Amino acid sequence: VSRSRYDYVIVGGGTSGLVIANRLSEDPTISVAVIEAGDQVFNNTNVTSATGYGKAFGTQIDWAYESEAQVYAGNKTQILRAGKALGGTSTINGMTYMRAESSQIDSWKKVGNNVSWDSLMPYYKKSEYFEYPTGAQVSMGASYSPEFHGTEGPLSVSWPTEMVGNNFSSTLNATFKAMDLPWNGDANSGSMRGYNVFPKTFDRSLDVREDAARAYYYPFATRPNLDIFLNSFAQRLTWSDDNSSIPFANGVVFTDKSGAEQTLLATREVVLSAGSLRSPLLLELSGIGNPSVLENLGIEVKVNSPFVGENLQDQTTVDTNYNANTNFTGAGGFIGYFNATDVWGNNTAAFSKTIKASLEQYANRTADASGGITDRETLLKLFKIQHELIFEDEVVISEIIVNPPSASSGLIEYWGLMPFSRGNIHIKSANSSAPAAINPNFFMLDYDIKQQIATARTARKIAMTAPMSNILTSETTPSFDVVPLNATDEAWDSWLRSAYRSNYHYISTAAMMSKELGGVVDDNHLVYGTANVRVVDASVIPFQVSGHLASTLYALAERAADLIKASH
Ligand code: FDA
Repeated sequence: VSRSRYDYVIVGGGTSGLVIANRLSEDPTISVAVIEAGDQVFNNTNVTSATGYGKAFGTQIDWAYESEAQVYAGNKTQILRAGKALGGTSTINGMTYMRAESSQIDSWKKVGNNVSWDSLMPYYKKSEYFEYPTGAQVSMGASYSPEFHGTEGPLSVSWPTEMVGNNFSSTLNATFKAMDLPWNGDANSGSMRGYNVFPKTFDRSLDVREDAARAYYYPFATRPNLDIFLNSFAQRLTWSDDNSSIPFANGVVFTDKSGAEQTLLATREVVLSAGSLRSPLLLELSGIGNPSVLENLGIEVKVNSPFVGENLQDQTTVDTNYNANTNFTGAGGFIGYFNATDVWGNNTAAFSKTIKASLEQYANRTADASGGITDRETLLKLFKIQHELIFEDEVVISEIIVNPPSASSGLIEYWGLMPFSRGNIHIKSANSSAPAAINPNFFMLDYDIKQQIATARTARKIAMTAPMSNILTSETTPSFDVVPLNATDEAWDSWLRSAYRSNYHYISTAAMMSKELGGVVDDNHLVYGTANVRVVDASVIPFQVSGHLASTLYALAERAADLIKASH
């Protein structure tokens, strides 16, 4: 029987939330509740299947949020996917386990956080149950350096049971070599450049996806001090009325399975882990946000936190298709990661200068696009850090995934990793279930399209370089009719703006940064101006990482759990 008062109430039983729930409830004297809008999906084959990516899209476990019309990309809206299930987005994602460039995590220091790659590494390892590849898997491209992996954590990380054989990886490796891209023996080392066959959040012995619930909840479900409220939709936090100078959240109001409104009381803390496209809305609905947003909707300002929902960043993905003549079976992930010099060659230095000279204009445009909420000076500081990451640290900026073709078709998908454009997300109504205004401002700033064009050209080159060109015989999307072989930037520009989709890597809507830079939480994940509200999910990540988000989120949540424990 569930109670109504807990030490900790966590909103969102997703990728990050279940880590916090697990670690806090290790102490049997501590009570923990999780409020999760979705259901459990243990036996849902759209979730578990090794090759089922995409099957859950548009089903009831996909929130499928809709963006505002994207004015820099044909005025079309975008579907922004996110998991609605115990396990959150880890139940529907691509399972890629890929961390970040070490310099990207180190850059968080420059925005006021005591976090570094070296200090996060123990948490990457703590979360990880790394399954060493078998000899057969090594021959199919699996490769690693043991010093970067943990083998005692809850999260299974491995190569899929049925990998892609038939020399697919060595064919790709030879192709990348011909393009001067080296083999990378372990791209989870903090140094990502090169070609690699990446591991996945996958349980090899059971041959199923490893999602956050399988890793962090089901094996611990019998803990009497941990309760999960499924099919329960959180509406807002409640505040203690004890007139303390710093507001203290003492509970969460939610709509339960039957549609009835209920409240759970929190005696210590409320942790928001509802994802980048929800946690900032819950803050606003609870009175934490920019007064200009809240007052219009009749919400009393409890904490003036002007940048809640700002700094939204995502990437843009494009799929291209090929005729192919060889059939490959099995699951597997094959990525080439390229840096600025790889894609811009001798023009890199000049291009870097041009972009540097544009940063002021980028800051002005971004501040204007936020309706004056963010300010030019601050944005300029953030953009300079990003420019350094791209052109001085040379983090990888292009991700190109080559999927194993069937006998008739092949798919190459790619995206630029470090776009500058920033948008925002805000509530449009005081009704918590009403849709929000979500605007990533895709392609607002011209670096972003240039990065995407350079990535597109590189991807096309893969298909035209031997030995890959012996397998992918001709391009069907976009095709040389639509984007000619020696297409101008303009031709690529117009195709890419029409063909892209969101990469679903939304971050920074409750950014972990100093207050002066527009942060919403400090480096303990504590929301500025509150006594006991934390945000632990992708909302806090201040800059895009070149990896995929989940591995870093697991590590960050492990770290946050330790911080929460230490603060009591
Ligand atoms: P997450 O979304 O996991 O959790 C939020 C939880 O809160 C959800 O369970 C949700 O239902 C719940 N919730 C929301 N509002 C609520 C409310 N009001 N009340 C109660 N509960 C509420 N990353 C990667 O590393 N490798 C990959 O291959 C991919 N591929 C990929 C594909 C697709 C299609 C997507 C959408 C995303 C990816 N990603 C990815 C990104 C990655 O999976 C994602 O960033 C993280 O899982 C997000 O974790 P969070 O903890 O931030 O939120």
